[in-house]
Amino acid sequence: MGWGNDRIVHEMKKLSLTKNSPSAKAKWVRVPKKFPSPPCPVSSNRMTNPRAVSQWVMPDLPDLAQSLGLETCQRHIFLCADASEPLCCGRAEGLAAWEFLKRRLKEMGLAGARPLVLRSKANCLRVCQNGPIAVVYPEGTWYHSCTPAVLEEIIQNHLLRGQIVPEYVFAQHPTFPKS
Ligand code: FES
Repeated sequence: MGWGNDRIVHEMKKLSLTKNSPSAKAKWVRVPKKFPSPPCPVSSNRMTNPRAVSQWVMPDLPDLAQSLGLETCQRHIFLCADASEPLCCGRAEGLAAWEFLKRRLKEMGLAGARPLVLRSKANCLRVCQNGPIAVVYPEGTWYHSCTPAVLEEIIQNHLLRGQIVPEYVFAQHPTFPKS
């Protein structure tokens, strides 16, 4: 038996502990001392030991990563939209930008089964003005005023061709200087 939840539950039963037992919380503190933690899969070198990740993490994660294109995509854009407290722009404006981004990436074949571009809706990117705010990686390029018209320029130039759109950049990681 491994050191996962099943083993811990088994050992708790042996100790007559249940999840709801009033003393479970106090005794639970001792459990980590009895059961050593598995090695951290993140610190394992996946190139030299490709099985190291799947040994300790959910075994289907590498397949999931492949199907999502996590290791093959070229860029990832995060767009602030539908924030719990929308400050950089109105909720409707942010949502319109997000829907436009999703639709155009799909139409251009950049998203989908083998995506070249990943897109994520961010609750807030902490800039909170002149939005919608977007950031594109790996360049680390921050864009303001990302209306559908501006997003179209970012998609056509930056996401597709790797050419940063300087008119709307307000911050740029030094690894990738503005062109
Ligand atoms: S609410 Fe959009 S960046 Fe904070």
